[in-house]
Amino acid sequence: MNILITGGAGFIGSHLADALLAEGHSVTIIDNLSTGSKAFIPSKARFIEADIRCRESLQFLGQGHFDVIYHEAAQTMVPSSIKDPYHDADENIMGLLSLLEAARQGGVKKIIFSSSAAIYGDNSALPLTEEVPPHPLSFYGLTKWMTENYLELYHQLYGLDYAILRYSNVYGPRQGAHGEGGVIYIFAKQLAEGKDLTIFGDGRQTRDFINVHDVVSANVAALTKGNGSICNVSTGSEVSLNTLARKMIQLSGKPVKIHYGPVRPGDIYRSFLSRQKAEHLLGWAPQTSLDEGLSETIAFFSRTMQ
Ligand SMILES: NC(=O)c1ccc[n+]([C@@H]2O[C@H](COP(=O)([O-])OP(=O)(O)OC[C@H]3O[C@@H](n4cnc5c(N)ncnc54)[C@H](O)[C@@H]3O)[C@@H](O)[C@H]2O)c1
Repeated sequence: MNILITGGAGFIGSHLADALLAEGHSVTIIDNLSTGSKAFIPSKARFIEADIRCRESLQFLGQGHFDVIYHEAAQTMVPSSIKDPYHDADENIMGLLSLLEAARQGGVKKIIFSSSAAIYGDNSALPLTEEVPPHPLSFYGLTKWMTENYLELYHQLYGLDYAILRYSNVYGPRQGAHGEGGVIYIFAKQLAEGKDLTIFGDGRQTRDFINVHDVVSANVAALTKGNGSICNVSTGSEVSLNTLARKMIQLSGKPVKIHYGPVRPGDIYRSFLSRQKAEHLLGWAPQTSLDEGLSETIAFFSRTMQ
């Protein structure tokens, strides 16, 4: 298939490009390199350096060459979205609209969208299923939810197919090159520098850490499945930050300590998402154990931080 990846120079998008090329697809990447890196773009992919908000830059889509678009490009930082909701909406809503309009005119068949657990907010009905009503606590979560709604309406009005994947906390090599990485990225970087790890709060807060290779395989499955659906992409299990920090120290072999800092306002205490719907609709399940994924991530950052 002819596939376009927005944000394909980023953490998840670049791994996805590698996997799609390996499966024999033709891949084009559009990215403004705001947080992505040219070094992550596979040499076999066509690269267009442009901002998706610029409608002229998307005119190539109107020529009708693309079957599927993976929409990964976004303002991805929760705190920045709260500080600057205008910028968040400009990237995540206006960028989306220029993409959807170009896709519609170019006869694109399907859009696969990277949504987020951030749309659920702080909900204790764990594990969270796709039926839980969204209640975002940040503008980032809100623009993700609005994007889901736009996709549903574009489908109703114009027949543009979609699949929505709500990722939990994604981790792996290439994370956070210029943007804000998650806790695993921060710990892996601190370990590579031989620094002690800091946990904010008592460390018993939990997250659902999904490896980037598993996120990629869910996206690949969504190429041909999951039309018109919303699926969580998660492990379905929770890991505490205490367990995570201890595991990462042990796997790295570094003689560092864990320190505890004050609770950060707004931090969710427990979070994990059910993956049953993705198993059923996409025929997908994560394959990477936390130990394997952490070892690869720690090795990547210790290599690249030299
Ligand atoms: N990493 C996670 O844990 C996580 C969790 C849930 C959802 N997501 C979503 O997955 C997607 C990919 O996230 P990531 O972690 O790979 O982030 P990332 O920052 O590494 O990748 C985003 C890419 O989009 C590009 N980009 C941003 N704005 C653009 C614009 N206006 N025009 C063109 N390119 C633009 C950036 O340069 C970057 O290469 C995002 O939509 C994010 O919200 C990520």
